Amino acid sequence: MPILGLDLGRNTIRAVELNRKKDQIVVVKYNAYQNPKLNLESDAKDDVEMYGESLGEFIADAGFSTPYVVTGLDETYVYMRIVKLPPMNDRELKSSINYEAEQYIPLPLSEVNLSYQKLDVDYADKGKVNIQLVAARKNILDKYINIIKKAKLIPRAIEPETIALGRALGDTPEAPAGSIIVDMGYSRSIIIITYAGFVRFTRSVQIGGDVMSKSIQQTLGLDYNQADEYKKVYGLDKNQVDGKIYNVLKPIFDNLTEEIRRASIFFTKQYPNANIKRVILTGGTAQMPGLLLYMANNLDLEVEIANPFRFVSVVPKVSTPPAPKITDEAPIYSTAFGLALKEV
Ligand SMILES: Nc1ncnc2c1ncn2[C@@H]1O[C@H](COP(=O)(O)OP(=O)(O)OP(=O)(O)O)[C@@H](O)[C@H]1O
Ligand SMILES: [Mg+2]
Repeated sequence: MPILGLDLGRNTIRAVELNRKKDQIVVVKYNAYQNPKLNLESDAKDDVEMYGESLGEFIADAGFSTPYVVTGLDETYVYMRIVKLPPMNDRELKSSINYEAEQYIPLPLSEVNLSYQKLDVDYADKGKVNIQLVAARKNILDKYINIIKKAKLIPRAIEPETIALGRALGDTPEAPAGSIIVDMGYSRSIIIITYAGFVRFTRSVQIGGDVMSKSIQQTLGLDYNQADEYKKVYGLDKNQVDGKIYNVLKPIFDNLTEEIRRASIFFTKQYPNANIKRVILTGGTAQMPGLLLYMANNLDLEVEIANPFRFVSVVPKVSTPPAPKITDEAPIYSTAFGLALKEV
């Protein structure tokens, strides 16, 4: 059955429709929609209504063929922790999970929707079991469901965007190899570490494309749109504009690489066998010229730009002008792709 993965951003919506044909996963359609008037962060009734209506129009115009959607929840509304518990049966686990959640979730349990999943057993540590706890704010879930229904779509699942990214880009249980995914968006970057097919670490840092454009704007005295354009065209290319853009961006990326290094060290202490070798860059900022080279030179790890479509057959995007090569903009569809993959 075809499934639509929906990545709802503050004012940008991205959707990927996947279907399964025998053993193959096919990308049926993908498209994005942007409207600066939208504001997903607002709880005002009018804003929620407008978001839902715009979503509905986007889906209808693009011609997606299914109403069944899996939606991603913004990192900021979700608490995820891995807890290690002694071996116990499902009933015992169920009855002790609230107690565990109370220790780790910084919100009253009455305000969240709590779910948990057994990941795997650590035989080196008395057979303890790794449990992934996920708590999402109830009021936010209600808002998302409201928006989805307003758009005449049918929610199949809602999950943290970090889990969708892990599914789309991370390692697998069959070929465990610790992988760091860095989703570099507009307002923030999220560092996600997967190992043996599960997301086990996430950290959000306030470094995103917006800060980069603003720094260029201030340093070079440009207006924002111009600065944003310079960033996208020249990025980390030292040879452009006397290295002026490069010089503004370099310290920002140095902060980010430092955070990545710290996350990697922290994680490796907990999972000495994870053997992290790979960093995958995704999100809008991952398309920056010169970024791959810069990160590869500054991290002692293999670095690649995300292409969630790498293993699937792809039908071109819906658009009137000729569709760009899919790999050019693949990184902005990683989340929506991972979401659809959950249920397809
Ligand atoms: N070619 C490019 N080079 C550099 N930056 C780019 C390029 N294309 C887009 N960006 C930047 O990517 C950012 C948007 O990224 P993305 O679309 O992943 O964010 P978002 O999902 O809307 O927001 P967030 O993830 O922060 O909630 C913007 O700051 C934009 O300027
Ligand atoms: Mg995003």
